[in-house]
Amino acid sequence: MTAKSYVNLFRESAPYIHAHRGKTFVIALTGEAVDGPNSKSLLADIAVLHIIGVRIILVHGARLQIDKRLHEAGLNSTFHDELRISDASMMPYIEEAIGSTRLQLEKLLSMGLPNSPIFGAQIRTISGNFTIAKPLGIHNGIDHLFCGEVRRIDHGAIESALRGGSIVIIPPIGFSSTGEAFNLSYQDLASEVASFVKAEKLIFISSIDGVYIDGELQRRLSLEALGQLIATDKVRSGLERKIFQSAYKCCSRQVERVHLITEKTDGALLSELFTREGTGTLISEDNSETIRKANIEDIGGLLELIQPLEQQGILVKRSRERLEVEITQFYVSIHPEGFLLGCAALYPLDGDIGEIACVATHPDFIKQGTASRLLTVIEERAKQESIKSLFVLTTHAAHWFIEKGFTECGPDLLPKDKKLLYNYKRNSKVLLKIINP
Ligand SMILES: CC(C)(COP(=O)(O)OP(=O)(O)OC[C@H]1O[C@@H](n2cnc3c(N)ncnc32)[C@H](O)[C@@H]1OP(=O)(O)O)[C@@H](O)C(=O)NCCC(=O)NCCS
Repeated sequence: MTAKSYVNLFRESAPYIHAHRGKTFVIALTGEAVDGPNSKSLLADIAVLHIIGVRIILVHGARLQIDKRLHEAGLNSTFHDELRISDASMMPYIEEAIGSTRLQLEKLLSMGLPNSPIFGAQIRTISGNFTIAKPLGIHNGIDHLFCGEVRRIDHGAIESALRGGSIVIIPPIGFSSTGEAFNLSYQDLASEVASFVKAEKLIFISSIDGVYIDGELQRRLSLEALGQLIATDKVRSGLERKIFQSAYKCCSRQVERVHLITEKTDGALLSELFTREGTGTLISEDNSETIRKANIEDIGGLLELIQPLEQQGILVKRSRERLEVEITQFYVSIHPEGFLLGCAALYPLDGDIGEIACVATHPDFIKQGTASRLLTVIEERAKQESIKSLFVLTTHAAHWFIEKGFTECGPDLLPKDKKLLYNYKRNSKVLLKIINP
């Protein structure tokens, strides 16, 4: 990577670093992710999050490790709804497998080789009896024995460990008031922990790389759409259903965002959290973007969005200074994660005429209706301001505006002042729409 691209990358990540710092993320890892080929880099990426100030709680599974131990002991498991029916003879092996998986996590987080991203970071981890459990009991006539469910989470103890600057590790085992240990589903546990600690995010890292609908990976999904999917037979596996259900439950309890990403893609976590496009699926109750008036803090993002279009001659060049003066004429569309999806400006001209300008959508998010929604908001605003007709000058998007009810009219119909400024070299198409006849 060249120094310039490194600098650009760092600049692009800055808003995300700012947004994530001080927030609590629960990261749910499968046993496969802890022992898989990408485990070292995955844990290094989690450590990077910790270093930039994200409060991390790691909840891990251990199915792979438990399978191995039970197999070596000649014990067979049966599952019901993705839960292992755990009897007394299995529990010592289950406890051992979970314990060694936790140790593996601690080991990976303690790495500090000079060539690793966490060189010299000295990350502290804390684990403990944070989970109070109870037996699941008998379901559909099946006694789940030592398979349990969360009764309570000691969130006070977790909070003080986080405040002390540690990464908290929570294994999928809980203890009852009678002193017994219960095997827990790590997905349910992660969902409960995230709800108890009121985490900002729950991130599932598993073999499931996101939610697919009609074969297409959904980058963003509303809670409602996830609920509808769960109710169908289109969920592809028991594990997928379990994760979707835990994500749904947690998100309905006000954990605002749940991400599903896969451990199979190296770097998936950082790219999900620090790039616009991400890698998996982001589920949130309100999946819709916010359209609002721009303010001075949007200028950096606006320049990043429009400068490449200016360089290609698609938009007229605007300096930072001009943007600062005109910022109140701009509207922006903001992604649920807080970054800029698109913009458009409304300039009132003489009398009852207005001009729409600088309509642009970030290239990663085109064809998702962003510009159409911005245009609707701007037209509403123009009507409120008693504007009767709207002009737009465009070199590349005339047809887009025609489909929105504009008609081509030529520069002669422009208001006088605007006509004097018309750049015949640029030869933009002039389109008009009557909005308040
Ligand atoms: C034009 C632009 C704003 C559309 O943004 P968007 O958020 O993708 O728009 P929407 O999602 O609301 O609409 C997408 C639809 O418009 C179509 N469309 C996009 N650009 C078009 C164009 N120049 N001509 C005709 N149709 C166009 C898309 O193909 C899509 O239709 P489809 O799904 O049927 O294929 C975006 O492509 C852009 O930023 N262009 C560069 C800036 C520009 O030219 N701005 C106008 C000058 S002010």
